[in-house]
Amino acid sequence: MSIELSYPMSRRSLLGAGGGFLLATTLRARAAAPIDRRIVAAPTRARLAGVGHPETDVWAYDGTVPGPIVRLRQGVPARIVVENQLDQDTTVHWHGIRLPNAMDGVPGLTQPPIKPGESFTYEFTPPDAGTFWYHPHANSLEQLGRGLAGAVIVEEREPPMVDRDLLWLLADWRLTAEGEIAAGFGNRMEAAMSGRVGNTVTLNGRVSEEEPARAGERIRLRLVNGSLARVMALRFEGHRPVIVAVDGQPCDPHEPKGGRILLGPAMRIDIAIDLQGEPGRRYRVIDDFYDGLSYWVTQLAYDDEAPIRAHPLEAPLSLLRNPVPEPDLADAERHELTLQGGMMGGGGMAGMGGMMGGGMMGMGGGVAWAINGMSMTGDGHAGMEPALTFRRGRSIVLTLRNQTAWWHPMHFHGHSMLVLSRNGAPVPYRQWQDTVLMAPKDAVEVAFVADNPGDWMLHCHVMDHQMAGMMTVLRVA
Ligand code: C2O
Ligand code: CU
Repeated sequence: MSIELSYPMSRRSLLGAGGGFLLATTLRARAAAPIDRRIVAAPTRARLAGVGHPETDVWAYDGTVPGPIVRLRQGVPARIVVENQLDQDTTVHWHGIRLPNAMDGVPGLTQPPIKPGESFTYEFTPPDAGTFWYHPHANSLEQLGRGLAGAVIVEEREPPMVDRDLLWLLADWRLTAEGEIAAGFGNRMEAAMSGRVGNTVTLNGRVSEEEPARAGERIRLRLVNGSLARVMALRFEGHRPVIVAVDGQPCDPHEPKGGRILLGPAMRIDIAIDLQGEPGRRYRVIDDFYDGLSYWVTQLAYDDEAPIRAHPLEAPLSLLRNPVPEPDLADAERHELTLQGGMMGGGGMAGMGGMMGGGMMGMGGGVAWAINGMSMTGDGHAGMEPALTFRRGRSIVLTLRNQTAWWHPMHFHGHSMLVLSRNGAPVPYRQWQDTVLMAPKDAVEVAFVADNPGDWMLHCHVMDHQMAGMMTVLRVA
């Protein structure tokens, strides 16, 4: 079940597909009005595996998994009231949006947690258009793992011309034979290894057999990896997707290396695909990230109609840049953050012991990871001391070094980072990211302007890793 975003005037509406044009006109007329909405977090049930399969007890925003798309407009103020009907504290983090610190959703650090029965009003004006997402930042491992997540789409002022604008929010679940969410969140062994990788992958909240396709279409597909721990590497059989944005930020359009789109937890990648397959055929979308565990996420199922245009569109799909400040590399302050810990491939502990000292380490305390020898655990709390403090407006180059034997999608709140190099080699396509996927032993250099004042989290987005110590705080003062 693709979610079709019917907002702007698309080529399809130009081609005369019914009410599309009227809808576009109405939305345009309302464009400048501030966005005002309410979201309720509460338990409900969802049919993840599809019709004929049992329902699953989940926690959800507005009763759906994933939660409703929060559609915002670039530069237009938004006010979102979040009401907590769970039986535990929650918050909402607007992942990737460069917003004021007090709206960032980190309990203790940026706001008091939202208690059961209470609500909190988030108010911000998104500076950047693109694909973002929202999720809890309290008891995150379990709350995200039970279904609390949704996409945020910040609409461009001038949307690009595509026939369809689609969202695939992918999520990974660990279900029992009865279709319930398996217990055992926070298993210490997993926390020191790959994290809680599940057994069921859903696309917009359902296991997907197929997604409809029409020959000749150009689609924009917004991929969101909402998994706790599963890294994905997607291949579109018979197709040549072009990456047009990463983590909401437009990049130089390019085909992914080897045709594989690497999507770590919390990452978003927007691709453009010209659907040049044959009418009536099906093409698999395969995830083969884990050796020997390849499976297909869905199939593009072409209808029997003739192509909607004789030749593919020529101009590449390119998006207008967002107003992210350009770091001054010549005058940047340089720092290093080293990721440590976890189990070795062979079962021993890596990088622990001596380096960290202080008795806080060791599996007994539920601590398995560290950044620069320090382990902050949980989801955020009051009194977290910053590892680094930057003067506001300074350009910063950070080197992230992964000394561990595991993959880590490293997320920095409140900023977008320009990825400069990976293992010494310059990154070929300029891309800004808020979540940088690091392979074992990788060293990645990123740069950004520390222009957003406040205390910001930097953590691994494998939720077990974050909870077990792979988290720190950077201050912009
Ligand atoms: Cu998407 Cu601190 O998280
Ligand atoms: Cu990690």
